[in-house]
Amino acid sequence: MVETLTVLGIESSCDDTAAAIVRVAGAEGAILSNIVEGQSTLHAPFGGVVPEIAARAHAERVDHCVEAALKDAKLDLRDIDLIAVTSGPGLIGGVLSGVMCAQGVAAGAGLPLIGVNHLEGHALTPRLTDSLPTPYLLRLVSGGHCQLIEVKAPGAYRRLGGSIDDAPGEAFDKIAKHLGLGYPGGPEVEREAKKGDEARFAFPRPLLDRPGCDMSFSGLKTAVRRESDKLVAAQGGVTKQDRADLCAGFQIAVADALTEKTRRAMAQLLDEHGWAEGERRLAVAGGVAANQTIRGSLEAAADDLGFSFTAPPLRLCTDNAAMIAWAGAERWRLGDRPGDIAARPRWPLDELAAPLVGGGRKGPRA
Ligand code: KG4
Ligand code: ZN
Repeated sequence: MVETLTVLGIESSCDDTAAAIVRVAGAEGAILSNIVEGQSTLHAPFGGVVPEIAARAHAERVDHCVEAALKDAKLDLRDIDLIAVTSGPGLIGGVLSGVMCAQGVAAGAGLPLIGVNHLEGHALTPRLTDSLPTPYLLRLVSGGHCQLIEVKAPGAYRRLGGSIDDAPGEAFDKIAKHLGLGYPGGPEVEREAKKGDEARFAFPRPLLDRPGCDMSFSGLKTAVRRESDKLVAAQGGVTKQDRADLCAGFQIAVADALTEKTRRAMAQLLDEHGWAEGERRLAVAGGVAANQTIRGSLEAAADDLGFSFTAPPLRLCTDNAAMIAWAGAERWRLGDRPGDIAARPRWPLDELAAPLVGGGRKGPRA
């Protein structure tokens, strides 16, 4: 008989407070509820996430999210078999809010509790949404993360590359702020870019001249700022068309850099494993994967190399607790059993990979 697990997931590592219930039976997962309370309006005046504000909002809202997730699923705690909570990596104040709430609920209800790596949540999402078999290559691109991960099997990961400074979403947000656009910046920049000429400014494609799959977005961000400052100095401001052209030039530079490094990672895996056509899989996750230009460019590269392309629906690409519940269930099946949960600001999925440099506005890199 297939074991069925009903899992409550809790997520609070960045700027979304989330709780979800997922019922897992064999390789199938059904999302019974998925509550995500974003904090965009709280952080918008600052053009980015303010850790202290995030932590306080998580502490205030996380238990309400748990209640709402149970209510939406028409369940109560007696129906839950397991609680899974993000215990890192992320902004430590937020992670602690989620962990303390989960510990309280678990102790009160006498339920087992597992600490989940947030990156593992993203990495395993294509298995929840598309029952994607392993192995596959995951291209994670969000406001806090930028990694290329070989998912060999649940629990077995190899990092092939990452950003040595900003994450791409962070660069989108900073460019938007500089150009007077709203927060979060990604969708705003994409909207502007549609009206712009991507060829007017020749922005750099960072690190393409170096071997390997690591990336950098800090220099590109500075190049865009410099061009916009030049326009201000020369003509007293930036016109609507200038702004659209700057956004289009920036977006295509990010798309080119991300795609070329993903292409290299796919080529490396082909070289190492000699995967046949049906075994080549690329999946994406993270808010930046919502960008049509970036998504299209990654999909075309996958197609070129004979890789299938899996992109979970947007609400499961961005931060959510259903992915944490699912990853908790996968870990449970691997034999993980509750132990002491330590909240970890830094927690690489691939413990053997050299640490990536850069603190980052959204907390330390994994
Ligand atoms: O995965 P996510 O919801 O949260 C984390 O950062 O973990 O990603 C949010 C990031 C933000 O930086 C946002 O600006 C970016 O994803 N983003 C986009 C787009 N939609 C969201 N970036 C580029 N184009 C978009 N359409
Ligand atoms: Zn995330």
